[in-house]
Amino acid sequence: MKTALLNQYRVWDAPTRIFHWVNFTTVLLLIFMGLMMLFKKDMGITSLEAKITLKTIHVLIGYVFVLNLLVRLVWGFVGNRFARWSSILPGSGFGTLLSGYLNSIKKGDPQQFLGHNPLGRLAVTVIMLSLIVMAITGLTRAGTDIYYPPFGSYFAASVAAEGVDPASLKPYDKTGVDAAKMKELGAFKEPFGEIHIYTSYFLMFLILLHIFVVVRTEIKEGGGLVSAMISGRKVLSKDPEDMKD
Ligand code: HEM
Repeated sequence: MKTALLNQYRVWDAPTRIFHWVNFTTVLLLIFMGLMMLFKKDMGITSLEAKITLKTIHVLIGYVFVLNLLVRLVWGFVGNRFARWSSILPGSGFGTLLSGYLNSIKKGDPQQFLGHNPLGRLAVTVIMLSLIVMAITGLTRAGTDIYYPPFGSYFAASVAAEGVDPASLKPYDKTGVDAAKMKELGAFKEPFGEIHIYTSYFLMFLILLHIFVVVRTEIKEGGGLVSAMISGRKVLSKDPEDMKD
């Protein structure tokens, strides 16, 4: 029986791993709360107060999600080699790298990578872009719907009637609100809600695909991908492609 020599490498630094699991947890909670908002009537939740509470909890979790995402975006410029955007985002020479990797899979002898493999780099790029869209549209709707930061006071000021203190406005309450200005805000916020919901469906699909592909890659190619996101270490049987240059 042929046995492969295994080597262990440090790959994911602590901030990258912490980001991953905080992101995983907050996104799952946001999806859960989001689905509750979508199906509130079917669940017998009808009062305005409950509707606002659901939205507020979703937004509060959203702040943790956004802060974590911001830290990761910055970490991509200062973190270790594998955490950096320069080794994740597809740049020059990416096409050759991707076709080399796909060919190696076809031949039944997949290349191993210390950082993300080329397909993983594409996945991370699309997931990150979707998360950024969710953060921007979510923060906007938090401002327009319940006057929460960072844009809430601006939107409240934009709909307050003449002489009314914007800080006195309450969500879904017409008191002190200029009806025409509120209509304008309604038209403005609608596309943000649409993009938020459709991107969340896309993200749900991406999450399922991500889990399926990571587990499949670990089974077919080894590397201990899942435990590497906990321990930070990958175990490989070949010379990693991204350590050859
Ligand atoms: C990956 C992250 C997120 C996911 C998967 C997600 C998911 C969802 C879903 C499924 C809905 C229901 C849409 C509806 O009722 O029409 C929703 C609504 C909402 N989300 Fe998020 N969300 C995320 C991030 C955020 C963030 C970061 C914020 C703000 C801090 C936020 C604020 C809101 C608000 C205010 C609504 C209500 C909008 C409306 O009624 O149309 N979301 N979200």
